[in-house]
Amino acid sequence: MEEIETENVGQAKYPVKFLQTLSGGTAHVILFSDGKKYVVKWNGTETRRAKEVINEYVVSKLGTLLSLPVVPFESVYIPDEFIANTPELHSTRYQFNPGLQSACPFIENSFILKELNNNLPSKMEIKNPDMIAAMVVFDHWVFNYDRTLRNVLMERLSEGNYYLHMIDHGKCFPGGYTWSPQTLIKKRNKKLSYRDTYQWAFSILNPEEYTTFIDKIVSVPNELILEVIQSIPEEWQVTLEEREALYHFLVEQKDQLPNLISQFITRYDSNNTKKKKRKKSKKKKNN
Ligand SMILES: Nc1ncnc2c1ncn2[C@@H]1O[C@H](COP(=O)(O)OP(=O)(O)O)[C@@H](O)[C@H]1O
Ligand SMILES: [Mg+2]
Repeated sequence: MEEIETENVGQAKYPVKFLQTLSGGTAHVILFSDGKKYVVKWNGTETRRAKEVINEYVVSKLGTLLSLPVVPFESVYIPDEFIANTPELHSTRYQFNPGLQSACPFIENSFILKELNNNLPSKMEIKNPDMIAAMVVFDHWVFNYDRTLRNVLMERLSEGNYYLHMIDHGKCFPGGYTWSPQTLIKKRNKKLSYRDTYQWAFSILNPEEYTTFIDKIVSVPNELILEVIQSIPEEWQVTLEEREALYHFLVEQKDQLPNLISQFITRYDSNNTKKKKRKKSKKKKNN
């Protein structure tokens, strides 16, 4: 691998005002000097979350390459002084240290899909419905094992429908918050956990809808994947060995996609059949 380049965007804007702590306690909304609100995720909040911001950064860049509705992350610099003047950032539990952090735009008028748990939206109610299949396939590529209903953000649009945003890519790649070259290999062949989000997606999509997106990911040039990995800021201390291992994981996982998605379809289809059977036998019992 060649010399790693780092992004310089960190210097472009600076934090102006602390606005709120988000649910979960480790992400904050901060107003920046460009007049926009950003969600800031901190590098090294806890040792057990060592790779969190790196994952957010890499996955959002890959999602952007594929024109997915990921909220784009960039690196931002938070100076010592801002932290010293913000009591909300003086935590005994988490470390909010000065330096380069990951930040993405804060989406106004939005709420998590979990809030619609009892009445999940139909395809018609979503402005970008083709992105639901895209999200499922993408999650399998980057091994996102955290696509709960809390990690899909719905933006309320003036037409009365919703725009779907994909958020929270901290737990991606085999090993998640603490992946290493070893976990990327050892944990690679695990199945992604069952998610209501996927059952919902499966219930409103035709299996053919996944195919286009598999092809789209498979044809992402490896050079672009390499560029994304090389652009991880040096300050986040991802070693050359780790960068290489991540590159190989992503390249090899592309080839697995047709297989993984076909397993996904069989699995969620059989969940549906089991559900229907359970309902039928319940009805019989009650009659
Ligand atoms: N870009 C965003 N715009 C608006 N709200 C957001 C955004 N990102 C996250 N949130 C809100 O903050 C919550 C926590 O963020 P998330 O990225 O899921 O972090 P974590 O679950 O790791 O704490 C989300 O459930 C959502 O309500
Ligand atoms: Mg979350």
